[in-house]
Amino acid sequence: MYLGLDLGTSGLRGIVVSEEGKVVAEAEAGVETSILHPGWSEQDPSDWVEACQNVVAQLRALNGVAFSAVRGVGLGGHMHGATLLDRDGNVLRPCILWNDTRSAQEAAELDGLPSMRAITGNIVFPGFTAPKLEWVRGHEPDMFAKTSKVLLPKDYLRFWLTGSYVSDMSDSAGTAWLDVGKREWSDTALDQSHMRRDQMPELVEGSSAGGELRSEILRQWGLTGPVVVAGGAGDNAAAACGIGSIGEGSGFLSLGTSGVLLVAKESYAPAPETAVHCFCHAVPDRWIQMGVILSATNSLNWLSRHLGQPVGALASTLPDSVKGPSKITFLPYLSGERTPHNDSDIRGAFLGLDIASEPADLTQSVTEGVSFAMRDCLEALKSTGTNPESLLVVGGGARSRFWLETLATVLNTPLAVPDGSGFGAAIGAARLAACAVDGADPKDVMLAPEVAEHVEPRVELTGAYEAEHQRYREYYAALSPLAA
Ligand code: XUL
Repeated sequence: MYLGLDLGTSGLRGIVVSEEGKVVAEAEAGVETSILHPGWSEQDPSDWVEACQNVVAQLRALNGVAFSAVRGVGLGGHMHGATLLDRDGNVLRPCILWNDTRSAQEAAELDGLPSMRAITGNIVFPGFTAPKLEWVRGHEPDMFAKTSKVLLPKDYLRFWLTGSYVSDMSDSAGTAWLDVGKREWSDTALDQSHMRRDQMPELVEGSSAGGELRSEILRQWGLTGPVVVAGGAGDNAAAACGIGSIGEGSGFLSLGTSGVLLVAKESYAPAPETAVHCFCHAVPDRWIQMGVILSATNSLNWLSRHLGQPVGALASTLPDSVKGPSKITFLPYLSGERTPHNDSDIRGAFLGLDIASEPADLTQSVTEGVSFAMRDCLEALKSTGTNPESLLVVGGGARSRFWLETLATVLNTPLAVPDGSGFGAAIGAARLAACAVDGADPKDVMLAPEVAEHVEPRVELTGAYEAEHQRYREYYAALSPLAA
């Protein structure tokens, strides 16, 4: 048995998977995010540990026999977060998350330095780890001086599980300290951002071993060791493993808190000028390209909070099928935007509100606005020469039939909906554990799920959505100089 743990932004999901790849138990525990100021987003690492203990207790209660047979653990998690530790391994301050944009100025400064883009293959986005440390250096110099190690969120969980400071290539690629082509820390990138190699964890491939569970954890969880903890992956690379996207051109679209359009590559293909991300994959000699938007289902969560209606209630106001674009345009830039704009100043907007507009109209325009943002990601990927061969859709937003049909029509691409829930970052993490424990070939383990259905674009409406997408882009062009 393998245990896959995915530390998501809103909660930690754990699954126990058999040697045959079957999910035998799954559980989840929520994690709170604190927003102290607009643009900030932090979590307390001790909450991750608590969520992990909670999930393991649930898994043991669900299927104790299977759990006691766990031989390997795989970790996935939200990327880019800065967890600062002192020299005794104590957490110095709350973790600054991927969607925190406070370090926009520091990011722009780092991005302008010679060779940063050439080494890291990416724009230095405000959400990445390096500018966060620059912000801490400027605003919390005592914390900066005490920082002995910087760990990504899932790697802090690993530190607690194993006692080792280790990270994997896919997650480390989002720090702006990694030479993404060479898959090693870059002394130049570290030096330019006032960091040192000894503050970095040791690097392993996601499918290799990255430590073993401590004896204290083995005892608490009722396991007989040794239990290997795989390198694991950032959530998107882990999800790619979970959905079988490791071959050239194979990709998926994720409508989660953030929105991601990911395509696997068999060679290193950086294109920072397009704001497309290029990271290492979780398996050796592979990379991923991604378009990332910061607020996908989070836009709907925001609307639900402020209309005082649960997301499910809002979703139930959507028509059964797409009938044409809404009269309201929504720009989903609630936390700024990455692909294609790299704009941390821009904020969201509703345009075209009418005295007769109802919550149902706002809900429809939110699903459309997020779909237009994903179309921008697709265009950005295409401009690098990458054409996704097929697109599977995952994430909470994929539960809405209306949203899926809107997305297929806006992208003018058929979308494949996987069958059941046997995929995702937690499965990917468990699959990486299988590789690390048994030396299995990733190609034999990272299989695609069955497709439940294909959602086709509504061809008679693509022209109308094309025109609306154009208007959406013009609204951004008009608003961005005002937001700066
Ligand atoms: C990717 C990114 C998000 C987070 C949270 O670059 O910032 O997808 O990993 O899911």
